[in-house]
Amino acid sequence: MLTDKCIIVGVTGGIAAYKVPDLISKLVKAKAEVHVIMTESATKFITPLSLQTISRNPVISGMFDTPGEWEVQHVSLADRADLLLVVPATANIIGKVCAGIADDMLSTTIMATRAPVVFAPAMNVNMYENPLVQANIAKLKSHGYRFIEPATGLLACGYEGKGRLPEVNTIFEAICGLLGAAKDLAGKTVLVTAGPTREYIDPVRFLTNGSSGKMGYAIAKAARDRGARVILVSGPVNIPVPAGVAHVPVISAREMFDAVVKHYTEADIIIKTAAVADYQPKEKLESKLKKGPGDWNLELERTPDILQYLGEKKGNRILVGFAAETDNLVQNASVKVQAKNLDFIVANDITQPGAGFGTDTNVVKIIYRDGRVEELDKLDKKEIAHHILDRVVNLL
Ligand code: PMT
Repeated sequence: MLTDKCIIVGVTGGIAAYKVPDLISKLVKAKAEVHVIMTESATKFITPLSLQTISRNPVISGMFDTPGEWEVQHVSLADRADLLLVVPATANIIGKVCAGIADDMLSTTIMATRAPVVFAPAMNVNMYENPLVQANIAKLKSHGYRFIEPATGLLACGYEGKGRLPEVNTIFEAICGLLGAAKDLAGKTVLVTAGPTREYIDPVRFLTNGSSGKMGYAIAKAARDRGARVILVSGPVNIPVPAGVAHVPVISAREMFDAVVKHYTEADIIIKTAAVADYQPKEKLESKLKKGPGDWNLELERTPDILQYLGEKKGNRILVGFAAETDNLVQNASVKVQAKNLDFIVANDITQPGAGFGTDTNVVKIIYRDGRVEELDKLDKKEIAHHILDRVVNLL
């Protein structure tokens, strides 16, 4: 995927620098040409020799290192780069770039490049949440610089909170996304709903289903990789949010409805993989219900039908639904295409092995408004995602 892509990895002085060799090793294995620039502080956390050995290229750490084959190193590397990744990115480098300061090899190269620049910040939670740092990040984003959101957890400084460098795989995937795929969704906004909803009965019990979010997250990633801006409205799942997508977490069908109503006007394409509960308890108890000797009759009422709402507001948007069926797959899904005013529906027969909820693969049929039915083989959800987007692109 990264064959012959020239990636500059800028390393700044943070404890998370210990993860950089692993990342560089993955990039090199994916056949990228990797050049490392280290700030002076970075060299206190990890040695240039390690990164030189793993990247298989000389590491630049000083502004006035003896030029090797390059005449003016910061300009020549900046010109050749397909992407410049700053990892870990400290508050200092973010602030410097934001202020237009170029006083070392890394900051001068960032100023000089026209390649996409991606920052992967990692720092103490209070530093990360400092309004000055947040303002700098917002300003850099408005100038087209990209950020991979830090993860939340126990930080090296002993604090708990947002500021951890994301897993190496997450960073690697974000880079593949930026450099790997055809950008046929550039300029488009894709709204994806994913995961289950939870309809609480009392503070500890809820109605839900087995959606893992894998299908929806695969679509969100694929759309991002194809250049789209992605809004991912997701119910509670246990998989990481893909880097570079706007994540709107929700719990219940009502919250998902509200989030979709808030964001759908921004979208050119809406793909509804979420397994939304059709019913919610008529009453939500404030305290946990103590079990008694008898039965418990639960009264349920309909949740808002999000897809129905979107169908009524469709306009020129492309609207794609999903259907999870156990019987009469094509017939039941076809009714939904018409009733919900969809461009097409992706129907999974969840009785098939490797299809539907929780699996890494899916087995689907794509059913269009005119009754055409396309059948896809059993494929990984990532591949299904691209097949769906290929069909969306054809409709654009
Ligand atoms: O998340 P995974 O584990 O990867 O599993 C993927 C999946 C099986 C959840 C996915 O492939 C899928 O089939 N999603 C739709 C499941 C479903 O709820 O189907 P449905 O027939 O009940 O709903 C039809 C469509 O209406 C769906 O697009 C759904 O998002 C939408 N809907 C349903 C109810 C409701 N109140 N509002 C809705 O918008």
